[in-house]
Amino acid sequence: MPVTILAIESSCDETSAAVCRDGIILSNIIAGQPVHEQWGGVVPELASRAHLQNIVPVIDAAIKAGITATDGGGLSAIDAVAFTQSPGLIGSLLVGTQFAKSLALALNKPLIAVHHMQAHVLANLIDDPKPQFPFLCLTVSGGHTQIVVCESPQRMSVIGESIDDAAGEAFDKSAKLLGLPYHGGPLIDKYAKDGNPGRFRFPEPQIPGLDFSFSGVKTSILYFLQNAGTSLVYKEEFMATEDERKLFIENNLADICASIQQRIVSILLNKLTKAALQTGIKDVCIAGGVSANSGLRKSFQEAGKKNGWNTFIPAFQYCTDNAGMIAITGYYKYLAGQFSDLSVSATARAEW
Ligand code: KG4
Ligand code: ZN
Repeated sequence: MPVTILAIESSCDETSAAVCRDGIILSNIIAGQPVHEQWGGVVPELASRAHLQNIVPVIDAAIKAGITATDGGGLSAIDAVAFTQSPGLIGSLLVGTQFAKSLALALNKPLIAVHHMQAHVLANLIDDPKPQFPFLCLTVSGGHTQIVVCESPQRMSVIGESIDDAAGEAFDKSAKLLGLPYHGGPLIDKYAKDGNPGRFRFPEPQIPGLDFSFSGVKTSILYFLQNAGTSLVYKEEFMATEDERKLFIENNLADICASIQQRIVSILLNKLTKAALQTGIKDVCIAGGVSANSGLRKSFQEAGKKNGWNTFIPAFQYCTDNAGMIAITGYYKYLAGQFSDLSVSATARAEW
């Protein structure tokens, strides 16, 4: 009998629903929340309200696109309901969690709680070719930067992570310093395409082991801009006027973006290379919103060629937040019999 999973993702500012049958994604609908643009970042209260507005139409669209088209089964074809339980914004998570529980109860079908960061890793199991276990995954999102050893869909461990900001935060905060609107990460990517990445050299943090740090890079970018490009450290005498700063950014935007991107990417890939050497693992993946970054994708492929890795990157629609990755994780949990009861609740933070 085929196994059909309906999955719901609502951890931050994307409402998404997907249908997966036997590990094949049949639909993956994602609704963004433009309401946050005017505030320059995600406003948790507004995110919860937008999820409430979006969730029914998004799930309806995912079911129509995924199930009705293939077997006319509608809701009755669903074997289990998977949802993002953690981590994320609690008000946002509660909307998806409550909807999933209600639907599972109404359909009398099992409920599957999914960890959002594990799902980012398993997005690499959606399309062919798939990595072989054990594989390494660099997961880079707005809230996390982790190097994960994945031994099976159920067994994963974090062997390195950021001790301060996540890589996505480093992109977004740099974009904010440049006066770019939210979501800044993709805009840095866009402007970097026309820039010289070697023009400005931001410092590489010296963090032992496989952990990352991005706060020093962020501070050096702040001083660099405050000083209109004359220094990477705080120097009162170099402080530029607001107009001088704006003019400097305007005249050098592409080179600044390319230089910021190149530093963030090199921090990520140096640690990933170290992790691959230490573990001896040759199947290496990237995942999470920042894996949509064109500079990271290109440099990751080049590092793979140089080091003899088999490299894997999810399709764009499975890099940033999406329910397709919740569905594939739910599918493997279904096969392993890992279900939750109806008393399960959302949690903002959770161990693996
Ligand atoms: O995985 P994700 O969609 O959400 C979280 O789980 O956090 O990641 C969102 C992050 C944001 O910081 C966003 O700016 C970043 O991914 N991002 C990018 C790009 N696309 C998304 N950063 C750099 N370049 C991109 N093309
Ligand atoms: Zn995410």
